[in-house]
Amino acid sequence: MKSTDTSLNGDLDVVTTGSGNPVPSNQTSQTAGFYGPVLLQDFHLIDKLAHFDRERIPERVVHAKGAGAHGYFEVTQDISHLTCAKFLSSVGKRTPIFTRFSTVIGEPGTTDTVRDTRGFAVKFYTEEGNLDMVGNNTPIFFIRDPMQFPDFIRMQMRNPKNNLKHPGRQWELWSQAPESLHHLMILFSNRGTPDGFRHMHGYSGHALKLVSADGSFHYAKWHFRTNQGIKNLSAQQAAELASANPDYATQNLFEAIERGDHPSWTVYIQIFTEEESLKFKYNPFDITKVVSQKEYPLHEVGRMVLDRNPENYFAEVEQAAFSPSHMVPGIAPSPDRMLQGRLFSYPDTHRHRLGANYLQLPINSPLQIARNQQRDGPMCYGGNGGRLPNYEPNSFGGPHQLSTVRETDSVSRVEGYIGRLSYKLTDEDFDQPRAFYRLLSAKEQQDLVDNMAGSIAQAKPVFQRSMLPHLKRIDEEFGSRVEDYLRKHNSGL
Ligand code: HEM
Repeated sequence: MKSTDTSLNGDLDVVTTGSGNPVPSNQTSQTAGFYGPVLLQDFHLIDKLAHFDRERIPERVVHAKGAGAHGYFEVTQDISHLTCAKFLSSVGKRTPIFTRFSTVIGEPGTTDTVRDTRGFAVKFYTEEGNLDMVGNNTPIFFIRDPMQFPDFIRMQMRNPKNNLKHPGRQWELWSQAPESLHHLMILFSNRGTPDGFRHMHGYSGHALKLVSADGSFHYAKWHFRTNQGIKNLSAQQAAELASANPDYATQNLFEAIERGDHPSWTVYIQIFTEEESLKFKYNPFDITKVVSQKEYPLHEVGRMVLDRNPENYFAEVEQAAFSPSHMVPGIAPSPDRMLQGRLFSYPDTHRHRLGANYLQLPINSPLQIARNQQRDGPMCYGGNGGRLPNYEPNSFGGPHQLSTVRETDSVSRVEGYIGRLSYKLTDEDFDQPRAFYRLLSAKEQQDLVDNMAGSIAQAKPVFQRSMLPHLKRIDEEFGSRVEDYLRKHNSGL
């Protein structure tokens, strides 16, 4: 058992084995004679090598490269009439948080300035357990059915034949999924290359339910708006930084916090009722769409401040396990299909990546130790429930379920037929990309055309051709400019 009594293990500066025995030499192996072989009895040597052999855990299958920081969330406006979540109960209340920013497609050593979506994941350590908001720096996503996620990701990864990047291949699927256009317009604008992690907004993407004590609820989309101002890199700046400093964003965040320049985000919600959700022109839970801020304005809730760097990257950032399914009473899932797929996928990957007891790791464990009847499993540490019974209900004590069904487990109406009811492509899928395009300055439009056409030019001509009607349906002039670029650059169109 651990002890703080230093007389027990002697000089704390002396290296010990994992089992706490002082090590006579950390530099020289035990050998049979000067010219002889090393000995199996040298436990420290064997343990040192064996531990080294096991130092890597599986990387995240997506979002493998990232940087994290600790901080706090502070309530600045009262929304306790909308939710019974205790961390939102009063103005001025602070909750510790841990945030991880990431790129999506590359491996852990990939460059920070690649054109990609950025992950924006926040873990709130509340008195009612952890709430994870696992969003991106885009308010929308490429696809709207979880069934498509693995293909959509793999097509952007390395070619299974030769392990090489395969530029242009993505357009095969994107050209068949025009609902991706909204995200693609953002990705190929300069917002696809943000200037580090501090100068970008974050979004929950999905609507989540805010449930009040009487069980009534609203849907809410969460927006984290950077107080540092939006700053993006041009394609050329991003390319230059890629070779000059591949860890640009990681370093930029770490050094800002280290010098006391603590980045912050003002947090807002956009709310709508169940009745309103039924009147939307499109499925309000379609994550390829934003909800109009004119009709549903942002309401301030609080601010998020990052003020402390991790002490140890692996223990805190690499082992962090964010999941949209980690929710507190007063916040609940919406019917968004993508969200429903994610509720399964994240804890599943965590059990694979970190093990069945991943929630016991310090970075993932809640402020109050979890109390339940789960026991054992690999790397189980802490008391493992001590002498308390490992089943429930029981007459021997320990935690028990709430005696009544909580009203905060709000009920929702569901009706209709079970089936594979796919989305139909409609004009709505082109309206929002068009609005985005028309909001850009002339220079930003030019950058978007160049960035997107430059990528499409690498696709097979058949997919270049199938993209053009989609782009023209967004905006005739936009599509024609991309077409001109492709013809000028001998893309084979
Ligand atoms: C990471 C799956 C959609 C944001 C991950 C991971 C998986 C995954 C398996 C790795 C998690 C880990 O190893 O800890 C999925 C699936 C999706 C989906 C199956 C769709 C069905 C989305 C969407 C967003 C998003 C729509 C944003 C709104 C993130 C972020 C991370 C992540 C930010 C990194 C979390 C971290 O920093 O550790 N996703 N994802 N994902 N995903 Fe998704």
